[in-house]
Amino acid sequence: MRVCVIGTGYVGLVTGACLAEIGHSVICVDKNTAKVSLMQSGKSPIFEPGLEEIMQSNMQAGRLQFTTDLAVGIEHGEIVFIAVGTPALPSGESDTRYVEAVARGIGSNLNGGYKVIVNKSTVPIGSGNWVQRMIIDAIAERQQDITGFDVVSNPEFLREGSAVYDTFNPDRIVLGSNSPRAIAMMQKLYAPIIERKFTVDNYLLPPVPMVITDLASAEMIKYAANAFLATKISFINEIANICDRVGADVTHVAKGIGLDSRIGSKFLQAGIGWGGSCFPKDVSALIHTAKDYGYDAQLLKTTVSVNKRQRLLIVEKLQQVLKILKGKTIGFLGLTFKPNTDDLRDAPAGDLLQALNRLGAKVKAYDPVISQVEADVTLVTDPEQLAQGCDALVLITDWQHFHNLDYAKLAKLMTNPVMIDGRNFFNPEDMAKAGFYYVGIGRPT
Ligand code: NAD
Ligand code: UGA
Repeated sequence: MRVCVIGTGYVGLVTGACLAEIGHSVICVDKNTAKVSLMQSGKSPIFEPGLEEIMQSNMQAGRLQFTTDLAVGIEHGEIVFIAVGTPALPSGESDTRYVEAVARGIGSNLNGGYKVIVNKSTVPIGSGNWVQRMIIDAIAERQQDITGFDVVSNPEFLREGSAVYDTFNPDRIVLGSNSPRAIAMMQKLYAPIIERKFTVDNYLLPPVPMVITDLASAEMIKYAANAFLATKISFINEIANICDRVGADVTHVAKGIGLDSRIGSKFLQAGIGWGGSCFPKDVSALIHTAKDYGYDAQLLKTTVSVNKRQRLLIVEKLQQVLKILKGKTIGFLGLTFKPNTDDLRDAPAGDLLQALNRLGAKVKAYDPVISQVEADVTLVTDPEQLAQGCDALVLITDWQHFHNLDYAKLAKLMTNPVMIDGRNFFNPEDMAKAGFYYVGIGRPT
């Protein structure tokens, strides 16, 4: 099928490249000319495992192209994805201006036969209807006869750092629309993924479940999923904080409750709180939508406030060990909100850094994929430089290869060999053997 993807961020670029990989002809459109030039040369503007390889092979096969020209993309696509950003406004509301601009652009350029317009951006409930309205209005201004189009909500559930894997192996595909024709085209588009043609061991697995529903329910599914996952993490963080006080180990507690299939073992890792480009903005946007409709979403507000406090827990733990932080040097192992990504949007490290700077501590950081930041932090290029002269190291991001560092050597380079493990990533006994005073989250020291 012929596909156009508008917006080539973490979602749009991965979606475009993966749809090309399963055999479709894809044109990706972005307004950022520098990004488009980079992608045209076969380079990915983001760090995402496996992405650049499938970009390059599909570009060579002629199935994947990049342009800044919206008209070219829309002319090409029988299916047109909207995958632009929906960041938070200062009020917590979703900023839909990029989606609006694209909807108008689609209406002004729509031509040829029937097209399916797919909202893949995470948009406030009700957006599918106004996207449809805006396209109709833009068409009306041109006074042209257009064969027709339908709008589908197809929310995205990929995780950064495993976005390519998640696209080929989704837990479900959600489609919201009142048009059977549009739904049928979407099912045809995703058929190779639904039938697990791109899944290793596909013969073991049933087809990917589909949830076919109306626009508003599909939009709500996206927000409810992110809000539930964020709440699950805030819940285990709260349990961890109680564990800290009573001397229990939250890693054992998480295992013990997670084995109950009604609870499930995923998203029960206590730590420094959730961050990233989606959980924070999506939970806030849902709270805001609830308020607009006269409902005070108390549980979700608490999910957010528990997380805000959790991000600063490390300061308390540092104070308990080092007492005065003024003049001390703290080393961050990792900066991003999770491993295998270069995305720094709303990373817990940012809040922690500001709090430590306010208290007069100096912060150094080492991150495997970040070489530039706009913050008051000294970036170093290897873990030894990081440890040199530090009063404490803080494990911020749980990159797997951080297990392989020579911690005995790092401990010797430090002024105070203290390790605050913000992800319960290390075995406390190994850390003690390496010479560290070890502090985890919700586990006995
Ligand atoms: P992003 O900020 O990484 O990328 C958005 C892209 O859209 C940018 O490259 C920007 O230049 C481009 N753009 C903006 N306006 C445009 C226009 N008028 N024409 C063409 N291009 C335009 O965003 P993202 O992280 O990929 O998120 C996109 C959407 O998907 C958001 O609604 C987000 O909530 C949702 N989502 C994101 C993730 C994720 O892991 N990042 C996962 C699921 C859903
Ligand atoms: C999340 C969802 O998992 C995706 O399904 C969704 O598509 C995406 O948001 C989105 O809407 O953008 P992502 O933000 O990439 O994906 O990363 P996650 O793996 O969900 O982690 C989010 C945050 O929660 C990270 O800061 C991570 O460290 C933290 N986390 C996660 C925990 O603290 N504990 C856990 O057990 C799991």
